Amino acid sequence: MNAGIIGIGKCLPEKIVTNHDLEKIMDTSDEWIRTRTGIEERRIADQDTDTSDLAYQAAVNAIENAGINAEQLDLILVATVTPDRPFPSVSCMLQERLGAKKAAAMDISAACAGFMYGMITAKQFIETSAYKYVLVVGVEKLSKITNWEDRNTAVLFGDGAGAVIMGPVSEERGILAFELGADGTGGKHLYQDEYLIMNGREVFKFAVRQMGESCINVLEKAGLKKEDVDFLVPHQANIRIMEAARQRLELPEDKMSKTVHKYGNTSAASIPISMVEELEAGRIKDGDVIVMVGFGGGLTWGAIALRWGL
Ligand code: UT7
Repeated sequence: MNAGIIGIGKCLPEKIVTNHDLEKIMDTSDEWIRTRTGIEERRIADQDTDTSDLAYQAAVNAIENAGINAEQLDLILVATVTPDRPFPSVSCMLQERLGAKKAAAMDISAACAGFMYGMITAKQFIETSAYKYVLVVGVEKLSKITNWEDRNTAVLFGDGAGAVIMGPVSEERGILAFELGADGTGGKHLYQDEYLIMNGREVFKFAVRQMGESCINVLEKAGLKKEDVDFLVPHQANIRIMEAARQRLELPEDKMSKTVHKYGNTSAASIPISMVEELEAGRIKDGDVIVMVGFGGGLTWGAIALRWGL
């Protein structure tokens, strides 16, 4: 039995903040942001909307899409570095709001790679038959830890949530291989004090190297070749980093998911949000081989090779 995705959902705040809006409050330009990052605009949640609210809406959508009830959930995993508060966890808050009475619940802290850590954790429970249905959410309200006076970071991030229901799928579908990793020696390059602090150049170098390597590693583990890949869903941090991963896989441009221009970097939420958008647009089809790959603060990374379908 394989573990796969059986339902998907997302939630994005309505408020759009464009690069031109940022030009008015800091020393930056639309031209700099677009050429260095690919970002044109991002969504920012209002004061009354916290991380758990975004997570809840994405979760409701995923549960409905999977055609199950919240009471059937065995486990809730929420990947986030911007929980409403240190505890109770966002996952416990969701467990109550969803009425997922029998579900165990915990948050995962692996920054932008958190959703990969969540999916791979879910896979272990499903493939051992310990659990059947696991809700995995990637969610961030990064605007609340953004220093709006630091142009090095403030232009990059956005708020949002993506969710999947994972469950058993047939032998030929679901997660074929995965890779997870961490390098705590690089923790100093991207961390939260009061606000998010980043050494962009160091993270950039790490990301370009790690994204490409992880993609190649999961393909090898799955016994697949570059030409078997139908779609790449990378963490949406910076178009230049994403392009490096795409080129490493020798994939044509239209085979890579791109949402960074409209949502910025939503950390743990970026991979599931992008998956949802590709599925909604009908660009991912039954039997397609998809590579998902993420990296982030910690430093952490993770990649999955998955064959889409039930
Ligand atoms: O999810 C994981 C989290 N983080 C990332 O993925 C970020 C990885 N890093 C990056 O994406 C890139 O390093 C950045 C987009 C953050 C920066 O791009 P860069 O090409 O590495 O630029 P840089 O840091 O080398 O800065 C170039 C110049 C600097 O000016 P000087 O020192 O050359 O005079 C910066 O001060 O650009 C300046 N700069 C800006 N200018 C206008 C930095 N931020 C801005 C800005 N607007 N917002």
